[in-house]
Amino acid sequence: MNKQSCYILAIESSCDDTACAILKNDKVLANVITNQKIHEQYGGVVPELASRAHQSNIVPAVDTALKKAGIKKSDLSAIAFTRGPGLMGSLLVGTSFAKSLAQGLDIPLIEVHHMQGHILAHFIETGNPKPTFPFLGLTISGGHTQIVKVTDYHNMEVLGTTQDDAIGEAFDKTGKILGLGYPAGPQLDKLAQKGNPYRFDFPIPKAPDLNYSFSGFKTAVLYFIQKETKNNPDFIAQNLEDICASVQHTLIEILFKKVEKAVKKTGIKQVAMGGGVSANSGIRKRLLSYQDKGWTVFIPPFEFTTDNAAMIGISAYFKYLEKDFASFDVTASPRIAM
Ligand code: KG4
Ligand code: ZN
Repeated sequence: MNKQSCYILAIESSCDDTACAILKNDKVLANVITNQKIHEQYGGVVPELASRAHQSNIVPAVDTALKKAGIKKSDLSAIAFTRGPGLMGSLLVGTSFAKSLAQGLDIPLIEVHHMQGHILAHFIETGNPKPTFPFLGLTISGGHTQIVKVTDYHNMEVLGTTQDDAIGEAFDKTGKILGLGYPAGPQLDKLAQKGNPYRFDFPIPKAPDLNYSFSGFKTAVLYFIQKETKNNPDFIAQNLEDICASVQHTLIEILFKKVEKAVKKTGIKQVAMGGGVSANSGIRKRLLSYQDKGWTVFIPPFEFTTDNAAMIGISAYFKYLEKDFASFDVTASPRIAM
């Protein structure tokens, strides 16, 4: 197989972003993301609306990506798509589109696991150093919180995961309690940077081994806010920055207690972070601080940490090299295992 001439078009439609990327080998030529604004007014992703929006966004996203990459459909070597996990209706749009395009062009189809994509995003050629195997992947997003042992491009073992809410949901749901718009994570982060992280104490939920639990934390914040606003209706407005800083500080503690445990347990001191929540300034700072303890840490550029199709493209590239192609009767799989 000629490595020099591999062009992969990748589609990611697992949640509420319609994304299309084109890669030449491990380099990204185009990375198009159409965010769906419609969900903001509902305070969360509405699955039915997400799939409809994917359907109207997908063709323009693909056309834009081809134009940006400066190639024609006939130059493509393979079509990649996110098979799961994600929302069924959303995944169906990307899956069906990818199958039709690959069949029409008579080229291979490659299925990709969304969470593997978040991890393999570290191998997109950006000029930055890349992890070496084995390493620990820390995937933190609106849908997942996972510590993964990555043995090679194709073999990953989930060492720990959330038993209820994902860390992104913990950010979004506590932000909602504080009256922040959706998604609240980025706003909470901004406010937290101006507040005192030690002002309020919130509990660290218990979860076995390397697993996580965040739902109890969200409830604790809710009860705390209800109690305080009963005494002082302006409590949130008067203390917003300190509340956000204390919430963020606690979420960082919850997250890294288990990462520290995973490093100790496995002896692996390379940690590569991905997923939308890795944009959080406090989490980035904390991960970087472990370099003083001899860890090697990796944070990909922002455009490759939130949901994107370039991460699907790079995962597909490694499968392409192995001729690991999907059969054309493949179906979307909302709860596919890693
Ligand atoms: O990976 P992603 O784009 O989509 C999913 O697969 O879920 O992650 C989105 C999540 C949302 O929960 C959003 O609030 C959170 O990432 N997020 C943040 C920040 N930026 C995005 N959470 C905390 N601080 C941020 N700066
Ligand atoms: Zn994601």
